[in-house]
Amino acid sequence: MKKKLIYIFTFMVTTNVAIAQEATTAAEKVPSQLPGIVSDPMNYVILFTIVILVATILVMSRVIKLLTWQIAGKPKEVIVEETIHLQVKKETFWSKLNAKLNDAVPVEKEADVLLDHDYDGIKELDNNLPPWWKYGFYMTIVFAFIYMIHYHVVGAGNVQLDEYNEQLAEADIQKQARLKLAANNVDENSVTKMLSDADIASGNKIFIEKCLVCHGKLGEGIVGPNLTDNYWIHGGGIKDIFKIVKYGFPSKGMISWQSQLNPIQMQQVSSYILTLAGTNPPNAKAPQGDLYSETGSAVADTSATQVVDTTKVNAANSSVATK
Ligand code: HEC
Repeated sequence: MKKKLIYIFTFMVTTNVAIAQEATTAAEKVPSQLPGIVSDPMNYVILFTIVILVATILVMSRVIKLLTWQIAGKPKEVIVEETIHLQVKKETFWSKLNAKLNDAVPVEKEADVLLDHDYDGIKELDNNLPPWWKYGFYMTIVFAFIYMIHYHVVGAGNVQLDEYNEQLAEADIQKQARLKLAANNVDENSVTKMLSDADIASGNKIFIEKCLVCHGKLGEGIVGPNLTDNYWIHGGGIKDIFKIVKYGFPSKGMISWQSQLNPIQMQQVSSYILTLAGTNPPNAKAPQGDLYSETGSAVADTSATQVVDTTKVNAANSSVATK
């Protein structure tokens, strides 16, 4: 029986190690300080299952033994052993250890340590503190000293905040890797207009860094054309803008940005440019190119908005006049 158990146990342990090794190779792709066998929660599940299984096997074997005794009767030697046990309380290693760890006064001698405190019949014994508890307590004091010196005096270990920051840094590396992967999936055919404030803000930052010299701080145009009107040389859709940013038009002074900006960054700056439409910045450069509309039909150009403005001004004027 025991031999079989050992076989089963060794089998389970080796399978567990094999699984853990597999998990480690998978985890190697992601940077991590902990070896896979410690950090992978799956290992704990497997370990827990092994413990439960072994316990079940032990209990089952005991139950089978008892059931066999029920049917066939107890073997003689067991009966003999049990009667001996009943007659002399055998001092085993465990019973000695138990006495040492608890240091409790035996029931027969309890009268010696009985205090005269009597609370409605509940009496109080003056036992020593159980040694297991006392030494456990001393150990926590020693541990606290070692801990303090290790973490706070010498500073050899990572305190929680360091660990947290380390994990953040690790997550950041992983995030960058993921973004890089995602970034390379965008091209002039698949690009879409980004709408989130964060992306537009990033686009703005890139624009100020790289594009301002030729297109002006507000996109009003200097050497490069005005990016705030509805007139475009190369088309005003997100795909057109992304394409000109990516490949440029070197012969006319617009360089290609694909070696300096990743596709996501080009998408961000292109989306930012689209938010500039109709902002009418001061010192705007005269429109260049053709009037652009998404649908291809003629769009109301900036003069249309000015008409509205004029009416407003007229209304304001007339209200002043009537006063
Ligand atoms: C060295 C000057 C210069 C820089 C820097 C520059 N551009 Fe340009 N850009 C130009 C010129 C010149 C043109 C006009 C090209 C043409 O006439 O075909 C242009 C054209 C464009 C157009 C097309 C406009 C249209 O009417 O079709 C877009 C969009 C554009 N640039 C975006 C950017 C972005 C985004 C950046 C920064 C990442 C940038 N440019 C940086 C000079 C520049």
